[in-house]
Amino acid sequence: MSFRNSKVVIVGAGNVGSTTAFSIVSQGLCEDVCLIDINKEVAEGQALDMQDAVYFMNRNMRVHAGGYEECSDADIVVITAAAPMPKDSNDRLEMLRPSLHVVREVVQSVMASGFNGIFVVVSNPVDIMTYYTWRVSGLPAERVIGSGTNLDTARLCRALSQMYDLAPASVEAFVLGEHGDSEIVSWNSATIGGKRVDDVLRDNAPRTRGTTREDLRKRTVQAGWDVFSRKGNTCYGIGASVTAIAKSILLDEKSIMPVSVRVDGMYGLNGTYLSVPAILDHTGVKEIVEIDLQEDELAALHKSADLLSSFYGKLDA
Ligand code: LAC
Repeated sequence: MSFRNSKVVIVGAGNVGSTTAFSIVSQGLCEDVCLIDINKEVAEGQALDMQDAVYFMNRNMRVHAGGYEECSDADIVVITAAAPMPKDSNDRLEMLRPSLHVVREVVQSVMASGFNGIFVVVSNPVDIMTYYTWRVSGLPAERVIGSGTNLDTARLCRALSQMYDLAPASVEAFVLGEHGDSEIVSWNSATIGGKRVDDVLRDNAPRTRGTTREDLRKRTVQAGWDVFSRKGNTCYGIGASVTAIAKSILLDEKSIMPVSVRVDGMYGLNGTYLSVPAILDHTGVKEIVEIDLQEDELAALHKSADLLSSFYGKLDA
């Protein structure tokens, strides 16, 4: 067995890409982090800034900017590049047209380097972009993963934990489906300290002023826009979420998280990319977990899948 450095390349050195890079560097997850951006100066500036931070980290790491040839020996390529979000937008699907050719060019350039690792797609609309990356790259589906509703899941757990003054990680609740308006919550499997969230909501109704499941789902969908409308982007939540995904892959953790994966057969779906819980290890998606959804939840998941797959035929136009 040979020891080899692990390497993460991040395409797009804007808010999301650079925050993700810094989060990975802060956690010391690999030996080499490379930033690629069409604006080389910006990528270099971000890398130099992070090089100064390495002194304060708990391990030495190489942080630098580079070209697509850097992807040839990368374990993970994170795609954050996209067209700018329209200012008054409140639907990630509006980004599809302008970002499509950006993502296609990125994926083709990465593949031309001889890349043989795992894609983690972040560019919105993330579920469709992940499907598109899978199709353009020709890589097996287990090696093309989207950040999906891992972040929405964190937002839901935060909302629940704040209601009861708990650590967010003490809540286990999955947001599934599209990273967007049609996302659903698997209430059937949601627990706090081993107690079903339904029962927690019922037993604490006076304390939480009768907050309902739908209030919580809507608050979760809204959470990204609450940030976006104030600062024009979101970066810390998504950066941390992508770092958790990269960590499970790089450290072969086998953590279960809801990420955008190609679901073919399970949940009665036919090859649609959307978020369901998946076990992530050094091979990418080790296994998809099929949790027991209530009838209305499964119907909502199918609706989300129908919405997403309705775009598939139009992607090359
Ligand atoms: C968000 C972006 C990443 O929800 O879609 O913060």
